[in-house]
Amino acid sequence: MVAMEPVFVLLTVLLCCCQARRRNVLLIVADDAGFETEVYNNSVVRTPHLRALSERSLIFQKAFTSVSSCSPSRSTILTGLPQHQNGMYGLHQGYHHFSSFDGVRSLPLLLQKANIHTGIIGKKHVGPGPVYPFDFAYTEENNSVLQVGRNITRIKLLVQKFLRSHKEEAESEGGEERPFFLYVAFHDPHRCGHSQPQYGAFCEKFGNGESGMGCIPDWKPEYYTPDQVKVPYFIPDTAAARADLASLYTTVSRLDQGIGLVLKELKEAGFENDTLVIYSSDNGIPFPNGRTNLYGSGVAEPMLVSSPEHKQRWGQSSQSYVSLLDITPTILDWFSIPYPSYSLTGGPLVQLTGRSLLPVLSSEQPWSTVYGSQSLHEATMYYPMRSLYKGPYRLLHNLNHLMPFPIDQDFYVSPTFQDLLNRTQTGQPTGWFKTLKSYYYRERWELFHTTLDPTESHNLASDMAHAALFEEMKAQMVKWQWATSDPWVCAPDAVLESRMDPVCRPLYNGL
Ligand SMILES: *[C@@H]1O[C@H](CO)[C@@H](O)[C@H](O)[C@H]1NC(C)=O
Ligand SMILES: *[C@@H]1O[C@H](CO)[C@@H](O)[C@H](O)[C@H]1NC(C)=O
Ligand SMILES: *[C@@H]1O[C@H](CO)[C@@H](O)[C@H](O)[C@H]1NC(C)=O
Ligand SMILES: *[C@@H]1O[C@H](CO)[C@@H](O)[C@H](O)[C@H]1NC(C)=O
Ligand SMILES: *[C@@H]1O[C@H](CO)[C@@H](O)[C@H](O)[C@H]1NC(C)=O
Repeated sequence: MVAMEPVFVLLTVLLCCCQARRRNVLLIVADDAGFETEVYNNSVVRTPHLRALSERSLIFQKAFTSVSSCSPSRSTILTGLPQHQNGMYGLHQGYHHFSSFDGVRSLPLLLQKANIHTGIIGKKHVGPGPVYPFDFAYTEENNSVLQVGRNITRIKLLVQKFLRSHKEEAESEGGEERPFFLYVAFHDPHRCGHSQPQYGAFCEKFGNGESGMGCIPDWKPEYYTPDQVKVPYFIPDTAAARADLASLYTTVSRLDQGIGLVLKELKEAGFENDTLVIYSSDNGIPFPNGRTNLYGSGVAEPMLVSSPEHKQRWGQSSQSYVSLLDITPTILDWFSIPYPSYSLTGGPLVQLTGRSLLPVLSSEQPWSTVYGSQSLHEATMYYPMRSLYKGPYRLLHNLNHLMPFPIDQDFYVSPTFQDLLNRTQTGQPTGWFKTLKSYYYRERWELFHTTLDPTESHNLASDMAHAALFEEMKAQMVKWQWATSDPWVCAPDAVLESRMDPVCRPLYNGL
């Protein structure tokens, strides 16, 4: 027995060393948020909580969504697959009714199978349910989205509830604690004028304590005047747009304070040193040339990744190109869960084309390529586009370029767009960098040098000096479309015949 002792001690040491350290994930996604934060050097808007998070994060300067629409983007965040591959072609709610394919193996599904405790609080906006299962779910599916997505006191209490249930579970299992994945999806700072105009253009009055607005005890609204705001190049510099932006800023203050509350709960529950925190947004801000576009102003996203195990780059900025398609591979990597081998609709094996971001948390990576793919937003808004952003060049393929670019309902009624329409109709100066006509009618191919031409105004697609680059980028984009089983890979001038070996059959339609 005496001789056994050293072995026993050695075994114990080995077990302790080999046991992975406790690792959790908190994923925070804002709704239509952009760069209106202190983190991205907006010197007007006050966002102390996001700034504090950025001081413990790597700050991405080149992060992009692959699709500029809510449900499609959320489906790509939660599957790592572009919208054309996972099936969420457009908005999920109501009559739009888009859904991912039943066979998709989503992140929450894979985590649940790996015995990770999963929770969602806020805007889900993806389906079907069995593809996106969560153990703990307070979403618009069984609550008011204003309460679970914008009432930051309610969100704080729900985070408390999730973390408490997590600890109670561990206690009842005899201290054996499994990891958790908590997804907090704010509905702020999404527009509100279309659905709840009484609360203001961005729901900036909801819960501000004024008569009829209710109260959110934890929110101290920050107010801004239209002359204070910074107008990005893609928004008309008009009184209407400035007032719209001032409302957006106020709503951003609720988002920021909400993030502060969520992080405080995490810390007070003792999880701050073992939880990977990711902050981003689903698509560009809801202004002209923003959301629903694959231009830079529609797809560039704020992104913070805070890893307690990678302090070496905290507070630094990264120029590596990253995509929301990278979130699923990153979280799987963090939990050391392999992606399963399976195929959808009997086709080739599904492969993730995104990558884990963990390496860039240690040292800058030479990543300089991201892809984009959009099909619809609302059910009526069919306007398929594919894009490749590589180094300074952004290539866009507007498959149905002969159609006018579609406009969504909540953006249509926005003060900014109404004013733009009125000014255009009455021949007044619009203060915008485009005309409505050029916005509606696009070239089939657009190629921009985004550093020499940051507003993406000079199309180089038919410029002979860029012919070789154009062909090379086209080929690379099509290769990605094939790799991700894109049903639109042959459009618009051919038809995909996929019974045996998939092949594009020409239409001779003159395109
Ligand atoms: C903000 O500005 C500072 C100083 O010019 C710069 O070093 C930093 O990279 C900027 N950060 C972002 C996220 O743009
Ligand atoms: C919403 O669903 C969750 C389980 O998914 C449940 O625990 C919660 O009580 C439900 N909330 C409401 C208001 O029905
Ligand atoms: C926000 O949630 C808290 C806690 O549930 C509640 O007391 C408050 O009335 C809610 N505020 C609004 C505006 O609904
Ligand atoms: C987390 O790490 C910080 C800094 O090392 C330390 O001060 C704090 O006590 C730690 N928190 C927990 C819950 O271990
Ligand atoms: C645009 O014009 C319509 C009709 O003339 C008017 O009702 C509306 O107030 C105008 N909107 C803006 C933002 O100027």
